[in-house]
Amino acid sequence: MAGKSFSGIEGNHLSIIGGSGRTSQAEGKKGGKKDSRLCMFCRNRPLIGPSPEKRTSSSKVCPGARPLFLGGKYKIMIRFGELVYAPLERTARHGGKGTEMNIIQVSGTGGPEQLLCKEIVTPEPKAGEVLVRNEAVGVNFIDIYHRSGIYPLALPFIPGLEAAGTVAVANSLSPEFQVGDRVCYAMTMGAYAQYTCVPVGNLVRMPAWMDSRLGAASLLQGMTAHFLSGSTYPLQEKDTALVHAAAGGVGRLLVQMARARGARVIATVSSLEKANLAREAGASEVIFYEEQDFLAQVRYLTGGKGVQVVYDSVGRNTWQKSLECLAPRGMLVLYGQSSGLVPPIDPQELAQRGSLFVTRPTLRHYLLSREELDHRSGELFQWIREGKIQVKIDKTFPLEQAPDAHRYLQARKTMGKVLLLP
Ligand SMILES: NC(=O)c1ccc[n+]([C@@H]2O[C@H](COP(=O)([O-])OP(=O)(O)OC[C@H]3O[C@@H](n4cnc5c(N)ncnc54)[C@H](OP(=O)(O)O)[C@@H]3O)[C@@H](O)[C@H]2O)c1
Repeated sequence: MAGKSFSGIEGNHLSIIGGSGRTSQAEGKKGGKKDSRLCMFCRNRPLIGPSPEKRTSSSKVCPGARPLFLGGKYKIMIRFGELVYAPLERTARHGGKGTEMNIIQVSGTGGPEQLLCKEIVTPEPKAGEVLVRNEAVGVNFIDIYHRSGIYPLALPFIPGLEAAGTVAVANSLSPEFQVGDRVCYAMTMGAYAQYTCVPVGNLVRMPAWMDSRLGAASLLQGMTAHFLSGSTYPLQEKDTALVHAAAGGVGRLLVQMARARGARVIATVSSLEKANLAREAGASEVIFYEEQDFLAQVRYLTGGKGVQVVYDSVGRNTWQKSLECLAPRGMLVLYGQSSGLVPPIDPQELAQRGSLFVTRPTLRHYLLSREELDHRSGELFQWIREGKIQVKIDKTFPLEQAPDAHRYLQARKTMGKVLLLP
């Protein structure tokens, strides 16, 4: 699958899909009417006519355009004296059959075997979207909830919420992102694919020092750790936090951020190797919650006082004792359910156990504006750059091995981020 080539002109037209030779909307219109030469694919780029073999005197060639004929295919062209390139592997076809791309599709919910590799026509971005060529795709536990049907979605669908790569087709209505820009995104369905149409509002520009693997490994889980530690319960130096699954993707980042905010962290993990990772991330105490009673341990470690906050992503197997670990007016932050869904909670129990708070936050509601996205991603990237936060890529799989990636995550093997490489 990797390295599949889309080179050459194979339809009737070649569109200019990159470079500095921008064409404004005004250039692309005549007398306020839409110019029929506008490229259907990239909206505002002029087309050149039939390929040289078929060219006739009536061919419409955009003014100033001079195609270069390379190895039997158009690859680049000179327009208005500037080099305008169509990336070798992504020369868009227009009319007739479209270019094809590989995706992972779920057409029936269930186990990892439901993740099937397919070839479909590359989508065209709608208004407000750009087409991103995904170079690395983030695998997240929520992809398992989608695949298994815990979070129901209309079938069929392309799973995945996160990737990093390059803008392949820009959008004239959103000039802030141009072809070739290096971007990452989260909370956008359809990332298990070679290309994804992404709303411009979800795009984050990657700094020059960040590669696509790091971008896809850090954005979703990093922003989650950011809002959990800084907004849901803004940790302070006087606080002690209990972080479950502390060596996992989000867990490890959360421990680091909690420490960076000055809090003491007690971590839970299931193995010695994971305990070492949690300690490296900054946990001062680690509990093996499969073998030890974590409630008794937390009481012991806090002198019976309890912790100010529990970050619980495990859910069914831990939530009850997590509640009991809290100091009066403490907060249980239920942000996932890797072991299964949490049953309804009785508000009376919260009163009896110390006027407790329970919240079930999701990243989506902590990214309510462009400013919030820029703030969270900006601070995250700055902390990574400064070495305050270390992102660990645990394992990569080719895109078509998405079922193995899910098995790996479900089997509790992850110690950092899992990526798919299209
Ligand atoms: N609310 C949000 O916006 C948001 C955003 C991102 C992620 N999340 C949640 O954060 C959690 C972690 O996500 P992640 O992608 O970073 O995964 P992860 O932490 O790398 O993997 C899940 C971990 O959970 C622990 N676990 C405990 N019981 C488990 C079980 N029965 N099955 C599987 N794992 C179990 C395992 O750690 P041990 O072996 O150490 O027990 C496992 O490694 C998930 O629950 C996810 O839904 C929430």
